[in-house]
Amino acid sequence: MAGRSEGLAIEPLWHDPEIVPADGVEARGGLLPPVLAARFPGELAVSLVPERPTVIANFVSSVDGVVALGPSEPAAGGGEISGFSDADRFMMALLRGLADVVIVGAGTVRVGSRHRWTARYLYPALAADFAAWRGELWLSAQPTLIVVTASGNVDPAHPGLSAPDVPVIVATTPAGAKHLSSRPLPANMRVEAVGSEDRVPAGAILELVRKTGARLALCEGGPHLFGELLRARLIDELFLTLAPQVIGRDSDAHRLALVEGTSFGESHGRWSKLLGVRRAGDDLFLRYRFER
Ligand SMILES: NC(=O)c1ccc[n+]([C@@H]2O[C@H](COP(=O)([O-])OP(=O)(O)OC[C@H]3O[C@@H](n4cnc5c(N)ncnc54)[C@H](OP(=O)(O)O)[C@@H]3O)[C@@H](O)[C@H]2O)c1
Repeated sequence: MAGRSEGLAIEPLWHDPEIVPADGVEARGGLLPPVLAARFPGELAVSLVPERPTVIANFVSSVDGVVALGPSEPAAGGGEISGFSDADRFMMALLRGLADVVIVGAGTVRVGSRHRWTARYLYPALAADFAAWRGELWLSAQPTLIVVTASGNVDPAHPGLSAPDVPVIVATTPAGAKHLSSRPLPANMRVEAVGSEDRVPAGAILELVRKTGARLALCEGGPHLFGELLRARLIDELFLTLAPQVIGRDSDAHRLALVEGTSFGESHGRWSKLLGVRRAGDDLFLRYRFER
């Protein structure tokens, strides 16, 4: 099932008027340069929250709500969920192109042992176009990557954490920082012990984002980290790709849904507003805004 939706445009089907940033509200993005607009017609603009960095999230889900195959298939990532959809890769690259910071949990890093959290990695053929777009938006050449880990169990030599031109911050606990201090760290990486004993609170992650000077952060999961930020009401928008695959849950519930670690009581009452719907072949691209 390689290369689904190759080269297809992500066509707009419907949007709410609120998708357009209101007058006087600062926004990131707008009309895309022609080469990128050929794949994503129309505008991509995110309204910025005035008092703190804005946080958007991006996930791909199967039609039955599975986003990760879990420990039973440790090498499988979002690519397996999307059926290696080319349009979904482009959407991910577009959002990375817009962001100052990309935030990921250590579980996602451990699964993606060759991944790099840049647009150029996802879409090398358009790397120059993404770079030019970032230049037009006055953004740094590459987004800073923040990796969240309690244990510090991430490999500093991972290719996605050690590229000299991609700043990396590992947000961890004192124990995690101690663990990492025994390893040689690449020059682009810095370790911040901002967590408590067993976790890094969502507010501490946001504070690290703020200190980089970022206005827009993109959370790429996984489900545990997303749940942490969602519970703290720090996710402003969700870009959700619905891939036309039914995966099912195995008897050990090893397949993860979008949010893990949240009880019904915690999540009850959180509503989101559908801002837009796009389509590329059988993939649906949904954009939601969360209540604050
Ligand atoms: N479908 C998609 O779009 C998509 C997107 C992203 C990921 N995924 C998939 O999701 C799976 C991983 O799921 P996951 O929920 O385990 O991912 P995750 O949230 O990336 O990783 C969980 C780990 O991240 C660290 N972590 C997360 N929140 C933390 C916090 N508040 N404080 C301290 N540490 C924190 C912990 O690391 P330590 O164990 O090191 O302490 C924790 O064990 C993978 O299969 C991946 O491919 C899918």
